[in-house]
Amino acid sequence: MIAAKLAAPLLFHWAIALINASPIGSGDCSRPTAVLADGVVIGTTSRLVSTPHLTVHQYLGIPFAKSPPRRFMPPEESTPWNSPWDASYLRPSCFQYFPSSELRGIFNNPPPPESEDCLYLNIFVPPTPPPTGGFTVLFWIHGGTFQLGSGRLPDYDGSSIAANQEVVVVTINYRTNVFGFPGSQDIPLEQRNLGLMDQRKALAWVNKNIKAFGGDPSQVTIFGESAGGFSSQAFGPEESNEEDWMVLTRKLGCNEPCVGSTQLDCVAKVPAEAILKILDEEGLWFTPIVDNTTNGPFFAEAVLQRRAASVPILIGTNADEGSILASLMPSPEVMLDVIFRNDTASKNFARSAYPTNLTEHELKSLILTDHTYTCTTSATARAAVSSAQSVWRYYFNASFPNNQPIPGAGAWHTSEIPLVFGTYRRNNQTTFEQSLLSRAMQKAWGDFAKTPETGPGWARMGSSVDDLRIFDISGNSSGRSTDTQVVDSVCIYYDEAIEANGF
Ligand SMILES: *[C@@H]1O[C@H](CO)[C@@H](O)[C@H](O)[C@H]1NC(C)=O
Ligand SMILES: *[C@@H]1O[C@H](CO)[C@@H](O)[C@H](O)[C@H]1NC(C)=O
Ligand SMILES: *[C@@H]1O[C@H](CO)[C@@H](O)[C@H](O)[C@H]1NC(C)=O
Ligand SMILES: *[C@@H]1O[C@H](CO)[C@@H](O)[C@H](O)[C@H]1NC(C)=O
Ligand SMILES: *[C@@H]1O[C@H](CO)[C@@H](O)[C@H](O)[C@H]1NC(C)=O
Ligand SMILES: *[C@@H]1O[C@H](CO)[C@@H](O)[C@H](O)[C@H]1NC(C)=O
Repeated sequence: MIAAKLAAPLLFHWAIALINASPIGSGDCSRPTAVLADGVVIGTTSRLVSTPHLTVHQYLGIPFAKSPPRRFMPPEESTPWNSPWDASYLRPSCFQYFPSSELRGIFNNPPPPESEDCLYLNIFVPPTPPPTGGFTVLFWIHGGTFQLGSGRLPDYDGSSIAANQEVVVVTINYRTNVFGFPGSQDIPLEQRNLGLMDQRKALAWVNKNIKAFGGDPSQVTIFGESAGGFSSQAFGPEESNEEDWMVLTRKLGCNEPCVGSTQLDCVAKVPAEAILKILDEEGLWFTPIVDNTTNGPFFAEAVLQRRAASVPILIGTNADEGSILASLMPSPEVMLDVIFRNDTASKNFARSAYPTNLTEHELKSLILTDHTYTCTTSATARAAVSSAQSVWRYYFNASFPNNQPIPGAGAWHTSEIPLVFGTYRRNNQTTFEQSLLSRAMQKAWGDFAKTPETGPGWARMGSSVDDLRIFDISGNSSGRSTDTQVVDSVCIYYDEAIEANGF
């Protein structure tokens, strides 16, 4: 998960603030209302499941761009509405592609409705009057390998953190897979990362409109996990979608279009379901490409060239990131070949870091956790520190009886999110530690967003030996600080390759 403070200029004074904060159950059934340039939005008020004495105003499913967008085209301005917009329910997710049935089982449960009509966002607002200048805003970009995911997932319900931290939380949808990242050469390079353009459109919408919901447009923090963390950073490795696009066009019979029409025109007219069927059958992935406009170059390079925004950063990983992702990986040998290219000595050195009696799955999981998460995050954090950015780092290492999707998943990829959002499962297995840890993490995220210069409540990287915050339940569940070497010692095997390959 990565969070970065984004300073947005206060440019949009004309958005009118009108928050109706009347509590529910007062006999008055008026609903929370906001007046935007596009029209009136009417939300709903809801009690928190966890703490029923707290309520939150929810504005769900507001269009931040014209929706549905034109397929394979950049997002356009939303069209104003005349009668009040009913923001009391969630709108569909963008179309999702699941690269494996295991991921579908974990991340599509229950399956949300899906549509190309999906460019909506959700806003969660504390019912109390905003402070002078407005509430701090947390802007969530969901993960899902750029293939799947949606702002509407129950895990990302912003109510708890909004109410407990008195912040405004925004969750968004953006186009994923081929709908978000088409590989057609008929599209100009800098207009192919549609999913990233959607995210920016949503952020610009927040800048322009959040005051009407009590938010402070000059105090916005973007935060995200996995592909969403990458998006917050938006300086990515080289990828190409053109090969997979060719497979898609061939399978759709769009590779030899009629005179006067392009392959792109042809694919743009096919029913979405037919496209998704081919993604499934052929295992086609579409991800952000480097265009040096919406994405790229590498973060380290961007930081060196001072092209990255110089903002405070909160960054961290989980102890067992690889556990549920290992099944998507090739053999450990191939993984190491990709990391170390032709450098056999370094590859063998890394191989020696692990016991020889691990199962293939365990080894894959460890390589992925160490290389792709722990050590790449460490390198990213150090690169930002070296250009005098304030960075705070954490390490999440807690698992609970009621949050294990597969046996031995541990602190798996995404398992910290329900604690940050306060949406962890509540059943007869929920532990007291789970709620304490959730509280501590919510407070850290809230404090970082409110005062990014002073941070989330532990030592800034480089300011103390113990500058790594561990969120686990070994102590009193408020976290504890330690030396980053405790988790980074394995990076002696990977640092050089990470430098050489770029990050
Ligand atoms: C992006 O910029 C890097 C240098 O910073 C360059 O090597 C690369 O070719 C550029 N890519 C594109 C697509 O412009
Ligand atoms: C890897 O290959 C490159 C050229 O492709 C070569 O310059 C380099 O020396 C090789 N490294 C090793 C460790 O063999
Ligand atoms: C694997 O080997 C280590 C020693 O390297 C040993 O402590 C451990 O018990 C072994 N595990 C299994 C499952 O055999
Ligand atoms: C993470 O938790 C596991 C299991 O409790 C433990 O073995 C490991 O030492 C912990 N890691 C850190 C860095 O605390
Ligand atoms: C917990 O709840 C489940 C049903 O949700 C039930 O099957 C189980 O017996 C319960 N366990 C305890 C210890 O109450
Ligand atoms: C938890 O421990 C920290 C120090 O490790 C201490 O500052 C804090 O007050 C403790 N919190 C509780 C609730 O005991």
